[in-house]
Amino acid sequence: MVPYAKRRDSMNYIIDCMHKIMESLTNKDLISFGGGAPAREAYPIGLIGDLTQSIFGDEEKAIQALAYGATIGLPSLRKAVQDHLLVPNGIAANLDEIMITAGGIQGIFLVCKLYLDPGDVVLVESPTFIHAKLLFDSFEATCQSCAMDEDGLNIEDLESKIKKYHPKLIYTMPTFHNPTGISMSEEKRKRMAELAETYDVMILEDDPYSEIRYSGEKLKPIKAHTKSKNVIYANSLSKIFSPGARLGYLVADAAIMQELTEMKLAIDTCTNGLTQMICAEFFSGGHYPSHLRGLCDIYRSRRDVMQKGIDDHFPKGTKRTSPDGGYYIWVELPQGLDGRELLPAANEVVKITYGSGSDFFVEENHDGSQFLRFSFAGIEEAVIENAMAQLGSFFKSKL
Ligand SMILES: Cc1ncc(COP(=O)(O)O)c(C=O)c1O
Repeated sequence: MVPYAKRRDSMNYIIDCMHKIMESLTNKDLISFGGGAPAREAYPIGLIGDLTQSIFGDEEKAIQALAYGATIGLPSLRKAVQDHLLVPNGIAANLDEIMITAGGIQGIFLVCKLYLDPGDVVLVESPTFIHAKLLFDSFEATCQSCAMDEDGLNIEDLESKIKKYHPKLIYTMPTFHNPTGISMSEEKRKRMAELAETYDVMILEDDPYSEIRYSGEKLKPIKAHTKSKNVIYANSLSKIFSPGARLGYLVADAAIMQELTEMKLAIDTCTNGLTQMICAEFFSGGHYPSHLRGLCDIYRSRRDVMQKGIDDHFPKGTKRTSPDGGYYIWVELPQGLDGRELLPAANEVVKITYGSGSDFFVEENHDGSQFLRFSFAGIEEAVIENAMAQLGSFFKSKL
């Protein structure tokens, strides 16, 4: 048998973790709080139907939607991203600094492809986004983790790890971090931008949840706090439009963007023209503000029900985060309860699944099994309420 590339082996563990999450999303027998899927009610189905029809009613548009397009992305969608998502968040980027990617994850992939050689170090938050870790592994990079406080990355730890490991990249999710839901303070965002300049390291700022805010003050991305070329901003349209459309975007200095565009050319030529066009018309037609308000209303009330359910039913000594937005609540079980060990029984007995905290840490010796990640976005309130009561009793019975 022809051997697979050596890097395949280094990906085994994370691939297993990802499979568990993806399977839980499609397993109809389980109530899944495991993956980050949007609510069914969050898809603007009728509107997308109308926009698609109107595109195919116009021959020029239809041809553009079906033909090969520019690697950097459809001009009208790049303009929509600039007007509706970047300018309102304080990011001043020219159109040649904005690329449309095939989902947020492709943006991270392209940055890895441009910067990472085998053995390079990537600094990540502890815990971090499992899919990004899978990508770093696939480029044979070494992940080193930095401690997180209640207001995001611990800057002293970050600086000491920069000095120790000389990383190429720092991967961070400053707003509504996945998996914890924590947001980084403005002060820390500014400090991070300064550190990236001082030590000449790239920050990869991943920001798919910041638009979905239910409470608290809006926070500017790190990219908005600096003119430095050392910050690349990656985002996804999956959570605010549709994950199936596979759309995301990158913002980087024009010369770096040129290189990132070559990387994308090498792998897929261009992003799906039809979904780009539908999405561009969704924004330019003025549909986004009310759609976003609708999303926030759905998710705010699901978050509230889940928080109350955890507080009312989980064993004494359980701790949790209180996110102002995003999809996730990060729960720490009291001593004596191991979330990873109990997951198969929770699937079997109460037919509920959650993210096992240990999957989100990169340290070999970190077990993290007292932590659980719950995504509240995709499940209706009544189901969440009932599930939290059942899971709470289940955990109590195991104490
Ligand atoms: C932190 C983070 N970054 C990136 C992504 C990728 O998004 P997409 O589905 O658009 O590839 C996700 C999706 O869950 C995410 O949570």
